[in-house]
Amino acid sequence: MKTIIEPFRIKTTEPLKITTSEERHRALEAAHHNVFLLDAEDCCIDLLTDSGTGAMSSQQWAAMMLGDESYAGSRSWKRFEAAVAEITGMEHILPTHQGRAAESILVGCVVKPGDVIPNNSHFDTTRANIEYGGGVALNFPCSEAFDTQTPAPFKGNMDVEALETCIKENGREKIPFCLITVTNNTGGGQPVSMANVRAVKALLEKYEIPLLIDACRFAENAYFIHEREDGYQNRSLLEIAQEMFSLADGATMSCKKDGLANIGGFLVCRDPEWAERFRNLGILREGFPTYGGLAGRDLEAIAVGLMEALDYDYQVYRHATVEYIVKRLTALGVPMVQPAGGHAVFLDVKRMLPDIEATQYPGIAVVNALYLAGGVRAVELGTVMFGHFDENGIEQPSPLELVRLAFPRRVYTQSHFDYLIEVIEEVWNNKESLSGYKMTYQSKALRHFTCHFEPLGS
Ligand code: F0G
Repeated sequence: MKTIIEPFRIKTTEPLKITTSEERHRALEAAHHNVFLLDAEDCCIDLLTDSGTGAMSSQQWAAMMLGDESYAGSRSWKRFEAAVAEITGMEHILPTHQGRAAESILVGCVVKPGDVIPNNSHFDTTRANIEYGGGVALNFPCSEAFDTQTPAPFKGNMDVEALETCIKENGREKIPFCLITVTNNTGGGQPVSMANVRAVKALLEKYEIPLLIDACRFAENAYFIHEREDGYQNRSLLEIAQEMFSLADGATMSCKKDGLANIGGFLVCRDPEWAERFRNLGILREGFPTYGGLAGRDLEAIAVGLMEALDYDYQVYRHATVEYIVKRLTALGVPMVQPAGGHAVFLDVKRMLPDIEATQYPGIAVVNALYLAGGVRAVELGTVMFGHFDENGIEQPSPLELVRLAFPRRVYTQSHFDYLIEVIEEVWNNKESLSGYKMTYQSKALRHFTCHFEPLGS
């Protein structure tokens, strides 16, 4: 059959509130025009994030009932440890309550002020953790990553030459580790090839710098390798993931993505000396090393979820959804990051609203228009999230202005996506009427979560 169907049926439903345009205008105003400050109930299709928002399977719910809530050495920990060890091949496994907790422990243990941490593209929490620890977070995406229109297969790759230049300039002593993020979330959910990870590892080995993987979407990345990289068509997604982790010295993970769980994460490594440090700081921050901020039932849900994420039919369905939306929007002429990413569609706002200056936050104009048109909640990945102030206090824009529509796993159905396409079409047709925003309040770190806006020209 040509039609790719959801490889599951629905046992429990959750009502969606259908709001009127007037209600949405009122809600957005009360939220200071920042969709992070809306009540979730007022969002009809919530695409703010694919993180922790997925639907669990009956297998996961059943496993949760087996949760062993013992403080130390629980059965649930053993199951979690076995699943993580099977996929990553790492000896030292520290559960954490989510990905950023793993990042914080990693940075707290091995980053000194002035250290430099390269990545293909740091996620905002990773960058914030590194900077909070006095380090410098540098991005080295491949050159295709900046061209949103080129349909290259692995636009999440790292620029290996630029990485080598960085190592030569800073010296290996200043680089405690290098990260590579799979898939590259902030660069459009684009995958990283096995060849690229191998090349990065070979370079780092020369300088004796450990390689860590930010593995949040490792299963989606494995699917892309299976589909696009020569030699992987007859390998299972588990085998592909195992090969990728075999090239790394450690990893941070948010199980809220490809763990198919609503909470959880982990930090893994091979070096026993690092592991000792991680465990000691982990006890302070997250709890005893066999539960790490998680209930036994959460460990169970993750142990099952990690394997379900590696199910080929599940990934086929997930990617069919994203590709369907991109295909329909492309036909309407809506500019997007091409090709389709793994977990989200990224609208290319620079092309949508070329006349709105970056410092008037065109991404917010699109995000808010999507909400007002149909109650769709998206997120800006542009100057609000990634801009910074230079030494003269002048706001420097982000190289890309994107709006991300991230898809919770196994949550929305085909008709929800048809509705979404209609909402985007309406915004696209009315783009000339959109204007920029002024930021009226911002916090020092991760300002996008809590800042306030006022529409310009109102
Ligand atoms: N690394 C990447 C690549 C991420 O996408 C995220 C989270 C994290 C680390 C942190 O994990 O949320 O469990 O602490 N990304 C979510 C998002 C929030 O919406 O993309 P966390």
